[in-house]
Amino acid sequence: MSRYAVFGNPIAHSKSPLIHRSFAEQLKDSLSYEARLAPVDDFAAGWAEFVAEGGQGANVTMPFKEQAFRLVDVLSPRARRAGAVNTLMLGKTGQLYGDTTDGVGLTRDLERLEAPLKGARILILGAGGAVRGVLEPLLAKQPAALVIANRTAAKASALAEDFADLTGQGCLLSGGSYAAIEGEFDLVINGTSASLGGELPPLPDSLFSPQALAYDMMYAAEPTVFMRWASERGARVEDGLGMLVEQAAESYFLWRHKRPETGPVADMLRRMLA
Ligand code: ATR
Repeated sequence: MSRYAVFGNPIAHSKSPLIHRSFAEQLKDSLSYEARLAPVDDFAAGWAEFVAEGGQGANVTMPFKEQAFRLVDVLSPRARRAGAVNTLMLGKTGQLYGDTTDGVGLTRDLERLEAPLKGARILILGAGGAVRGVLEPLLAKQPAALVIANRTAAKASALAEDFADLTGQGCLLSGGSYAAIEGEFDLVINGTSASLGGELPPLPDSLFSPQALAYDMMYAAEPTVFMRWASERGARVEDGLGMLVEQAAESYFLWRHKRPETGPVADMLRRMLA
């Protein structure tokens, strides 16, 4: 039986085993998928142990996405851009392939939600690894403008520079501080980890265009502080549970060449959170 796992530290609360086992059940696919803890500073050791036990592929979550990036033999172009790997695959000759499915997970979920993308004005909050990982697929949707805002403004402007070559058909890409945000946006994505501590970046009140969508890449049983704030200002709000399931489905496809249906699995997770 094919063996897969998710690596993280901590890992006990990961939903990935449940998601992937549900995909396998749905597709009548025979595989095992477990949660594995690796030492914070030695992901390579954790992975080597798993391979010795017959492991063929894995998802990688916090804090290992950069260590996994450095470990692989062959990087997908999108993982190279993202600077991170969330999906590992062992090739037939023992080569290790690394890819990232986070960005496509976000854009698939946004499409499911019929979010404004092409020609839209998009604001993304944060400039860490989570945001870097989604910029390429967002830019591929050809927004009119993509503004990156971050507490440390220099990180946002550096990210905008890094991705300037992908702006193609006239998309305005810029990065700066929260104080520098100007105008209204059709889609505002929170990619900061502020929600984890119940905090909210300092945002202007008139941020949303009519029918704007506010999307938090985090999810929880209750709406995040960002979602509550956005909802009070008239935006439609969504959390990142759908992104979690979509990125998993893309990893599953890379390993198994079969595409699971994501809707029923997202519904199950939502019921479990409640
Ligand atoms: P990740 O890989 O999840 O993106 P990260 O690289 O540590 O994690 O980035 C965390 C992001 O959340 C950063 O954009 C960070 O802002 P800074 O670059 O200024 O540190 C942002 N962040 C974290 N806590 C925040 C808070 N309380 N308010 C605003 N932004 C916050």
